[in-house]
Amino acid sequence: MNVSIVGAYNTKFGSFVKRNRETGEVEDLKSFYALLNEAGAGAIADAGLEPADIDAIWVGSCSPSLFVNQEHVAPLALEIDPKGLLFKPTTRVEGACATSSLAIYNASYAVASGRFKNVLAIGVEKMNLLDTSSMTHALACCSYWPEEGARGMTFPGLFAELGNAYKEQHKLSNETFRQMLAHISASNYSNGIQNPLAHFGPGSLPDKLQLVTAEAILNLPDSGKGSNPMVAAPLRLHDCSLVTDGAAAVVLTSSHNAIAKFEHVVELSGIGHVTERMMLKERLGTLHELRGAKFAVQQACSEAGIQINDLDLAEVHDCFTINQILCVEAMGLSGPGQAGYDFIAGKYNSDSDCPINLSGGLKSKGHPVGATGASMHALLYKQLTGSPIGVAAKGSPELAMSVNIGGSGVTNCVSVLRRIQ
Ligand code: COA
Repeated sequence: MNVSIVGAYNTKFGSFVKRNRETGEVEDLKSFYALLNEAGAGAIADAGLEPADIDAIWVGSCSPSLFVNQEHVAPLALEIDPKGLLFKPTTRVEGACATSSLAIYNASYAVASGRFKNVLAIGVEKMNLLDTSSMTHALACCSYWPEEGARGMTFPGLFAELGNAYKEQHKLSNETFRQMLAHISASNYSNGIQNPLAHFGPGSLPDKLQLVTAEAILNLPDSGKGSNPMVAAPLRLHDCSLVTDGAAAVVLTSSHNAIAKFEHVVELSGIGHVTERMMLKERLGTLHELRGAKFAVQQACSEAGIQINDLDLAEVHDCFTINQILCVEAMGLSGPGQAGYDFIAGKYNSDSDCPINLSGGLKSKGHPVGATGASMHALLYKQLTGSPIGVAAKGSPELAMSVNIGGSGVTNCVSVLRRIQ
């Protein structure tokens, strides 16, 4: 597509609340509104623009009404600069955990149509004001409520179904599968603790406990302080993404304008957006793979005119470690049943030809659901333009892919990003 990213920003990710465990009282240390404004203003400044130069804004937020009692969130983006942005069109987008990739896609279609010149796409979520059970309920609203959420199905539970289907399809023992998942957590922690913006960044739990090898994770006890308990078999605590507050944003313009007027330009060379049926029960027999993501990867590669092996790095949707396996197989980097072994062999480590999740991924960078897609694009932009945040890809990377997935493999968003200046 003839649309490029010319500026990007990612707030620090974390749990920005102070919770009194006895009274249950929660103090908000960095609000939804502050996160939204910081990311939007940061991306505009990174592009070297003024807010008045922005012609339209898209805001991705997954469930602000449940997380922070706020709907109608897109107009709040005017508060980035009420003078410069007053009367500009704003639109909210939602697609579960793929929310802000969709915000970027809709913003870029508007640029491609010629309607707008410079647009801003922001993703934001503030999840930690809620306690665990309310947060789990909010996320479960992204499943098919009548038959999944309402019957007690949670997201760890949904992805456990995918994990069990994968294990069965490829005839993996509990021990082998656990080894595979532990290697993925360790690789993401190892990258994340070097990312200053990560929720589990420098000085965090995995850094203190040095959970940077599979062995260290496998040696954790099953219960008690500092343990790795089962959450939804076969997924344990260290297989689950973090519950995170954060925001990220990008500025988009036509590639033609970008090359003429901006210093660092990364083209959105290909997009794959594929919707799978939501109900797990309608997909029985296929749960060992992400059919929709596979098709989205093909769409994105075909539009960009690339082969998967051309990629220099990728950020993929490890909402649970099993999904990192499924994403890498959907991309075709590993064959069916092979990705876990490839992770054990270190094929996607930080110094490899195509490192996966240099940011630490959702497991270590964190997963503020509505901000995750924008964060993937923002951090890949930084990698491709010579200002990596955290671990740098080797050499001078030119081509990257983001694989951002909403729900249990339902809303599949894949971008090919190419540095063109
Ligand atoms: N991975 C590793 N450690 C985690 C963690 C995670 N996902 N979540 C919490 N912890 C750690 C905390 O840092 C804390 O450590 P400490 O005692 O040393 O301070 C400890 O575990 C307990 O934290 P707490 O916040 O009480 O955990 P919890 O039980 O409320 O939450 C999960 C744990 C797994 C339920 C929660 O992280 C979760 O639901 N994750 C998945 C989110 C999700 O589904 N997102 C959408 C994906 S599609």
